[in-house]
Amino acid sequence: MATPHIAAEPGDFAPAVLMPGDPKRARRIAELLMDDARLVTDVRGMLGFTGTVNGRPLSVMGSGMGQPSFTIYATELFSQFGVERIIRVGTAGALSPKVKVGDVIVATGAHTDSSMNQLRIPGVNFCAVADFRLAAAAYEASQLEGALAGGEVHLGTVMSRDHFYFTPEGQTEALARYGVLGVEMEAAALYGVAAEYDKQALAILTVSDHLLDHSGDMSAAERETRFADSLRLAVAAAHS
Ligand code: HPA
Repeated sequence: MATPHIAAEPGDFAPAVLMPGDPKRARRIAELLMDDARLVTDVRGMLGFTGTVNGRPLSVMGSGMGQPSFTIYATELFSQFGVERIIRVGTAGALSPKVKVGDVIVATGAHTDSSMNQLRIPGVNFCAVADFRLAAAAYEASQLEGALAGGEVHLGTVMSRDHFYFTPEGQTEALARYGVLGVEMEAAALYGVAAEYDKQALAILTVSDHLLDHSGDMSAAERETRFADSLRLAVAAAHS
């Protein structure tokens, strides 16, 4: 059985799926975590893999960028492929002065300027929140000795923006004043789809840059090792 955007059988996906934005990153994650990863879908080059980690099934699939793309894949995975948990693994630009490049954000909630959740319940400003149990499992894993290569883990809200290249004047500073940890482009939509289908979702984000302080930007090599930190937390949440 195939959906418009995923060519796989229902049993091809594990109950938990890690979703980076970049399909090539999905391949790298699958190769890094699994000895037995097999390609289960490649429609539009959006690669999805399934294998085992520590003897337990896990899938990894690209989501593309932005809330509409993420929503298409998350909706099909939750509604047609038996998926129970989606954990976004991506990057964010930091807003808070407490958050440094290389740190990890466990996004307990997501503000957004998108209309995607606004349209869900008439007259309601939808509250886009992560599954508490997944967030708790990721945080617990981060507190284990040696879990993080160097950065810190932060729990709190992020901003899921629709625009990458346009920002209303003063918005970034105002978000920082309200303690919003970082900016990315997908979490709010993921949390909305999970609520729609009564499933579990979480976004775990590696901080790749700081929007208000560019002094600590990372090299490509550092990005990869720090990204491994968030993967460790994501696997712990997926199999919690
Ligand atoms: N905006 C949106 N997404 C991002 C950013 C950003 O500044 N940095 C990393 N992902």
